Amino acid sequence: MESNDRSAAGLQGRRILLGITGSIAAYKAAQLCRLLVTAGADVQVVMTPLAKQFITPLTMATLSKHPIRVEFFDPENGAWHSHVSLGEWADCYLIAPATANTLAKMACGIADNLLLTTYLSARCPVVVAPAMDLDMYAHPATQQNLHTLAERGIRIVEPAEGELASGLHGKGRMAEPETIVAFVRELLADGTTSSPTLSEKKKSLQGKRFVVTAGATIEAIDPVRYLTNHSSGKMGYAIAGELARRGAEVTLVSGRTALDTPVGVRRVDALSAAEMYEATTAAFAEADGAVMCAAVADYTPAEVADRKLQKGDGEMTLVLKRTRDIAAALGAAKGNRLLVGFALETHDEQAHAEAKRTKKNFDFIVLNSLCDAGAGFRGDTNKVSFIDRAGREDMPLMSKAEVAERIADKIEKHLVSCSAV
Ligand code: C5P
Repeated sequence: MESNDRSAAGLQGRRILLGITGSIAAYKAAQLCRLLVTAGADVQVVMTPLAKQFITPLTMATLSKHPIRVEFFDPENGAWHSHVSLGEWADCYLIAPATANTLAKMACGIADNLLLTTYLSARCPVVVAPAMDLDMYAHPATQQNLHTLAERGIRIVEPAEGELASGLHGKGRMAEPETIVAFVRELLADGTTSSPTLSEKKKSLQGKRFVVTAGATIEAIDPVRYLTNHSSGKMGYAIAGELARRGAEVTLVSGRTALDTPVGVRRVDALSAAEMYEATTAAFAEADGAVMCAAVADYTPAEVADRKLQKGDGEMTLVLKRTRDIAAALGAAKGNRLLVGFALETHDEQAHAEAKRTKKNFDFIVLNSLCDAGAGFRGDTNKVSFIDRAGREDMPLMSKAEVAERIADKIEKHLVSCSAV
């Protein structure tokens, strides 16, 4: 619920034109419309003729509280549906789902239906949420079209990786409605009224690439049981979102969490410490820096039973072996790239955090103590201290979003001094 509430802010009274194209993901447009309306937006819907096969105009008209437009003329009375006035009316034109076909036509300027003519005449920001099969999405033609659209200032809500309607697994699932709503809210909160090009939206971390690890790892004991910890992933997700907001390209290597992927962030799921090691070291090879926020298991079962372990009458001993320390591996290879670590301590916090910073070669470490009220797992607040070579800086109790901002500020300062070396 929390992410829905966050995405609701800032949409009150905004006029959203929702374009729906013919993809199986059109069923999610109902939820998308409902979330926008609940957030106070005035939503009108335009559909391609094929979209009507996937979701009925009646459903969309009921949810948006406006008649739906599909054809250039009303078939009943011949009234002209003006694509120009629809485009003028909207504060944002959101096309979700956007099929490969519609994206291709948008890139070429083809205008053979009302949704597309409206696109060509719209002066407001345009957002597309692609939805298609993994091979269609990966096809060079689709990628080229998306690139062309991005260069023209169209905002793209990246599709997610996961199970597709075809039964295949890969990238192409339309982003979840909550993620799309959050994207639109943020876009409109920027105060943007016309569609700026990408270069106009210059951000402080534009051109930088970061890896952020977040969440808890899970280590299998047998096909049923596993070892894990209390990390919710909230802090790492907030950092990934903040770095992306500042224009960085962010790969979020995520353990187990129940959170939505932050807007503009590429998420790679890695559940065990070993998977997280592989995903993080691979992403770091291309990155300018990394923030190690995940709660990674230090030990994993020496052997994973391939069948469920049966209980006996007596005690049971589980033999554990060490996992690889991801942060230490990155620290050894980092050169003058930036590495930020976390330390969650229950006692001797300063000494432990300093020792970790040196051992793992962190530029700075973010210390949270479980002794502080409002700090640590699950909650939405945190109380942290930054420790770097220059010393210790204590922060007051803040929301995790604010802590993420302070961490991003500190990263920016350290990047300046890294590049000055
Ligand atoms: O040694 P400890 O787990 O307390 O160190 C904490 C820091 O190291 C955190 O930044 C955490 O994300 C990182 N870490 C890691 N790989 C491990 C263990 C910890 O990246 N296997």
